[in-house]
Amino acid sequence: TLAAPAAGALTSCGEAPGQTGKILRSAARLPKAYETPLPLPPIKRPAGGVIEIAQRTASVEILPGLKTEMMTYDGVFPGPTLETRRDQAVTVRHTNSLTLPTATHLHGGHTPAESDGWPTDLLVPDGFDQHHAHHAGHETMADPKAQVRSKKRDYRYPLEQPATTLWYHDHRMDFTGPQVWRGLAGFHIIRDDEEDALSLPRGEREIPLMIADRAFAEDGALRYPALDPELLGEPGVDDRYMAGVLGDVVLVNGAPWPEAEVEGAQHRLRLLNASNARRYELSLRTSDGKSVRFTQIGSDGGLLSKPVEHAEITMAPGERFDVVVDFGPLAPGTTVEMRNGLGTGRTAQVMRFRVTRRAADDVKIPDRLVDVPYVEKPDGAVVRRWHFRREHVHGRRGWGINGKPFAPAVPQARVPLGSTEIWEFYTDAHHPVHVHLSPFQVLRRGNRGPGPMDLGWKDTVDVRPYEAVRVRVRFERYAGRFLIHCHNLEHEDMAMMAGFETE
Ligand code: C2O
Ligand code: CU
Repeated sequence: TLAAPAAGALTSCGEAPGQTGKILRSAARLPKAYETPLPLPPIKRPAGGVIEIAQRTASVEILPGLKTEMMTYDGVFPGPTLETRRDQAVTVRHTNSLTLPTATHLHGGHTPAESDGWPTDLLVPDGFDQHHAHHAGHETMADPKAQVRSKKRDYRYPLEQPATTLWYHDHRMDFTGPQVWRGLAGFHIIRDDEEDALSLPRGEREIPLMIADRAFAEDGALRYPALDPELLGEPGVDDRYMAGVLGDVVLVNGAPWPEAEVEGAQHRLRLLNASNARRYELSLRTSDGKSVRFTQIGSDGGLLSKPVEHAEITMAPGERFDVVVDFGPLAPGTTVEMRNGLGTGRTAQVMRFRVTRRAADDVKIPDRLVDVPYVEKPDGAVVRRWHFRREHVHGRRGWGINGKPFAPAVPQARVPLGSTEIWEFYTDAHHPVHVHLSPFQVLRRGNRGPGPMDLGWKDTVDVRPYEAVRVRVRFERYAGRFLIHCHNLEHEDMAMMAGFETE
């Protein structure tokens, strides 16, 4: 009843079906693929329960020989990888020395409302003219409850949740797309004893991979369609980018089409799609033409109950996939290309692995990983329907949820804590639907059960055009206001977001 692909209606611009949107072309000289070594972001652990992060403008070398001015966490892109432990609360203290306000969200975190990075709970740089901001961005004006802080802000994360790959990124109202594009994104990895007890690749054999596309001007500056020099210009992006902004350069951990040297052994790859709007269908192929499979061990919200093999991993913006790849059977010197089946030309390339040498490997991925409790459906569970659709917003074309653009002061739902609900997502185009606060389990996709990418605890689910996805979600703790939104960041900025209040 629900599946009916919108043939042709939304494809555009020469990308494969499943990828829509206008591609921004780079004017800069681009490096050859697989010449840049894969960088790893620096790791930061709490000291006395605190991690400090300096948000600042920095010049970063992304394209060889060119400087790209970025908005960064700690001067690097991606930001530092935060490593924390389950049930060990951490305070992440952000200082904003940028020229623009920010709001930092821990994506996938079970976080109390005041630290969740609500889009108008801004952290403004010192001396920032809030009155000017009101005028130009009119963001906090519409939200009397906005908690604006100047210069420093403590985000408190209880981390009462299983080991998994989270990420933190900017969430400022109307400007999330441009601010993430300019660099405000990093990994946050939670570890726990249960995972430590399992036989999994560790140390250098565990690699976080943040995949994100960008486009560059001739001098190395980032290209992005919105004007946001000092909050001038309209929020959101112009009409030509209704499907979101795509770049023509694929970055992994901030490097264009990098190469990673790996030993001939199993490796754990923590895949994150941190792109604004680009979806990927990842596959692995060796230099002698063999396909290599992914063994999925985890999803957005933690490890799976058992490993699952995939020939391809399809990732929408915001999603994470925790996979193991076995380079053991490959002869030293073999290369393994990670390709994107939804791209064409250079966007069909992602990165490459090169097997350096044979190596001992005593990891044996267990057949049973962790217990993933099935969220029970109580009798009479509330069913909520969320329609993600194109709308006219204040006379302009935009995106909305249930017919409304985001209004920070007006929640679209009230959810009692302690309840389990069925949420249904309906769409008119590809929309990666993300729910803050509580993870969910996918029950149905269109007329069928969950798809191959829907396993385990999810916080972001790729909803395809005219296909309804039904999930079960339990709200246990933290009263306050939280978000549901499309994780295509241009859609988010064009107001495809709604607040819900737990009480
Ligand atoms: Cu990754 Cu509300 O966002
Ligand atoms: Cu969307």
